[in-house]
Amino acid sequence: MPIHEHPTLAQFLLQDKRSRGAFGTDLVQLLLDVAQACKAVSRTVAGGSLRGVFGSANAVNVQGETQAKLDVLADEIFRERTEFGGHVAAVASEEQEEPVPVPQDYPRGDFLLLYDPLDGSSNIDVNVSVGSIFSVLRAPRPGEPVEAADFLQPGARQVAAGYAIYGPSTKLVLTVGSGVHGFTLDPVLGDFRLTRPNMTIPAATKEFAVNASNSRFWEAPVKRYVEECMAGAEGPRGKDFNMRWIASMVAEVHRILVRGGVFLYPRDSRPGSRKGRLRLMYEGNPMSMLIEQAGGLSTTGTERVLDIVPDELHQRVPLILGSAEEVERIQAYHRAGPEPVIDTPLFNARGLFRTA
Ligand code: AHG
Ligand code: MN
Ligand code: MN
Repeated sequence: MPIHEHPTLAQFLLQDKRSRGAFGTDLVQLLLDVAQACKAVSRTVAGGSLRGVFGSANAVNVQGETQAKLDVLADEIFRERTEFGGHVAAVASEEQEEPVPVPQDYPRGDFLLLYDPLDGSSNIDVNVSVGSIFSVLRAPRPGEPVEAADFLQPGARQVAAGYAIYGPSTKLVLTVGSGVHGFTLDPVLGDFRLTRPNMTIPAATKEFAVNASNSRFWEAPVKRYVEECMAGAEGPRGKDFNMRWIASMVAEVHRILVRGGVFLYPRDSRPGSRKGRLRLMYEGNPMSMLIEQAGGLSTTGTERVLDIVPDELHQRVPLILGSAEEVERIQAYHRAGPEPVIDTPLFNARGLFRTA
């Protein structure tokens, strides 16, 4: 496979830097460290029960969730692989209550790295795709000791974001602000090779992803949207839809980046998800940067996710993201209020009076 047709991650990032001069080698080196961490997690996950990595770690994290052994292992791998290189000042993890500054004797870099080291943990023991999600911000006071508040930047300030998905093959998908690019781990040579340059999301779709078992807790605009999709060709949408739910956000987003779709994890009336279930800083923001860079939209229903100014590191956020036409329709339903009539010129749907 000629290298120029499938450049390695390092070649691609350095070429992009040279063509744009938009960031120094520090960010390239940091992303290469992150890629190494993803490779190490991929091999640890692949070891499965043979390496005794399945099951619970018998500990509860800051999210109040019981940690899987692989959550803890992946968290350690990410920190060890990224704190040494001198490119980050501190890291923040789904699995750590507070940000972790790089050790005193390590050089402090200009970036803040945030990550969900293992996304989709409930799928580990049943061998369904899981992944890792990462987000890169600039340290506001380079060279200075990092304070927790330094992480509380809106997602629009990310300089890079991406994920690895540990599926039939291991893929790395990332953006540094110039489009979204997909790399496949070459299991023989051990490097990530460019396989999907400039990933873009079709504006229209017939596929939605939601955990429908929560429908009784949803707000009216989300209920309306999903019911209309379920009504299919005989309903107000006039076409049939397909539903997916993998319970691994990385897998849902990867599918959307490859073939379109819309993903919903909305806020609902349950005490633990009044502000949504997914975490803003290391799930919502990185995925929203990828989705927007690929031509899609990402909203809470009423607000652009990347505009949210965080109050706390582990805050949750409602997420509706993917194909632009569908996300805009859902936003229109939120704007319309309880007795909606779709009159936005974008849609040719009939005006609807609903009891929902
Ligand atoms: P994590 O494993 O990091 O906690 O993330 C799991 C998230 C996300 O990946 C997925 O979309 C969602 O939880 C699934 O939630 P339900 O189990 O409520 O469907
Ligand atoms: Mn997650
Ligand atoms: Mn996780």
